[in-house]
Amino acid sequence: MPTFTYTHNAAAAAAVAAAYDTPPLAYVRSYGCQQNVNDGEKLRGVLLDIGFGITDAPERADLILFNTCAVREHAEQRVFGNVGALKKLKEANPRLIIGLCGCMAQQPQVVEKLKKSYPYVDLVFGVDGIDRLPALLQKRLEKGRRVLETSPERGAVVEDLPIRRDSDFRAWLPVMYGCDNFCTYCIVPYVRGRERSREPEAILAEFRALLAAGCKEITLLGQNVNSYGKGTAAGLDFAGLLDLLCQEPGDYRLRFMTSHPKDASHRLIDTIARHPQLCRHLHLPVQSGSDRVLAAMNRHYTAAQYLELIDYARKTIPGVTFSSDIIVGFPGETEEDFEKTLELVKAVGYTQLFTFIYSKRTGTKAAALPDPATHADKAARMARLLKIQEERAFPAIAALTGRSERVLVESAGRMAGTLNGRLDNDLVVEFPGPQSLIGRWARVRLTGARAALLTGELETE
Ligand code: 5AD
Ligand code: SF4
Repeated sequence: MPTFTYTHNAAAAAAVAAAYDTPPLAYVRSYGCQQNVNDGEKLRGVLLDIGFGITDAPERADLILFNTCAVREHAEQRVFGNVGALKKLKEANPRLIIGLCGCMAQQPQVVEKLKKSYPYVDLVFGVDGIDRLPALLQKRLEKGRRVLETSPERGAVVEDLPIRRDSDFRAWLPVMYGCDNFCTYCIVPYVRGRERSREPEAILAEFRALLAAGCKEITLLGQNVNSYGKGTAAGLDFAGLLDLLCQEPGDYRLRFMTSHPKDASHRLIDTIARHPQLCRHLHLPVQSGSDRVLAAMNRHYTAAQYLELIDYARKTIPGVTFSSDIIVGFPGETEEDFEKTLELVKAVGYTQLFTFIYSKRTGTKAAALPDPATHADKAARMARLLKIQEERAFPAIAALTGRSERVLVESAGRMAGTLNGRLDNDLVVEFPGPQSLIGRWARVRLTGARAALLTGELETE
């Protein structure tokens, strides 16, 4: 696997220092998945490395960078809307640099649109331009011209990127990039490129550094973590990687996402059951309950095979919970197909569902399929799905009342004086407690639930 290593770009840092009287500020906003959030943390790290400061206020920034998502049209429209709103800031401050990067910028038609219709966007680069950002910025600063890149993704892994993490107690840790599955609706393989896995030593080194810094919850990331290891020198598979990481001593939790059901093996489930650090929760996107639709989506499993996996996990990992992604209104989905999805959702009993109306993506196979259902039909199906999910999930969540659970306190709760803590099984409990507990472990007695949110009381450890 070709690997690039980030090195400090002194010439770019000098160009930044020469261009501004006082250290400039950068505002970086990430859209979409956790992989993108982690890329945003690295973009901030790289900008700090060449002399920028970081701000949360776009109106104070000298550089505004949108790290974008292309998975659905709605996400793209939001970005175009938000970029449009920056025109006023640019008029007020002509020196402001506006940049757009990530998955949208990997699509030629998007770059073309930015070139033609958004003249105030100065900088465009795709998903693996993070290490080249200093050089691109230097070009923009020294030449004063727009820098719009349309280079294909390099098919490499970049190590040692500087990073400014959003949290000091929860962290994202990518184990692989890209996707080879080509589900027919999905743009990801086209924008994020072929699967590339990091070598286990690089992952282990980052993991150890996070634990040494006091991090308590680490989520391993990949578009399809179960195909981890292909093309690596070590040849370790994902279950093997989990075994390796779990040998590290310490009081921590390990999560991972996303698992493709076609590759989630009994061995993976046995591995979760064996290690107390591995969270008892599986995000296993099913997309549809109809075998006909699953085949048209190129998913490589049937509803029965999926349910067998769920059954095995339930038997093997006591208390395990499941979440899933579902697409409503895939081209040609019939009422009968949709009812199979409803049946599957009832049968599994997910604690959380991420539901999406199908969005046509230029360049994917599904974009060429006839899609006779109207948006209103699809929205009506979505409402039925959400109702079934609530009827199934809320009582199951409320049934946990009475248990005592160890939680990682993540943030202030919605109600004044409360905190939110995450259980091992990924559910969240709101309970009264002092802010000083944020980032720490706490023991909470579950006293009830409001919809999908548990409520509880603090106990002493
Ligand atoms: N339309 C709707 N949803 C999509 N997803 C991916 N591509 C599309 C699309 N074209 C959903 C899938 C995937 C999740 C991350 O986004 O459910 O699992
Ligand atoms: Fe898209 Fe399928 Fe790859 Fe997930 S597994 S990123 S849905 S192509």
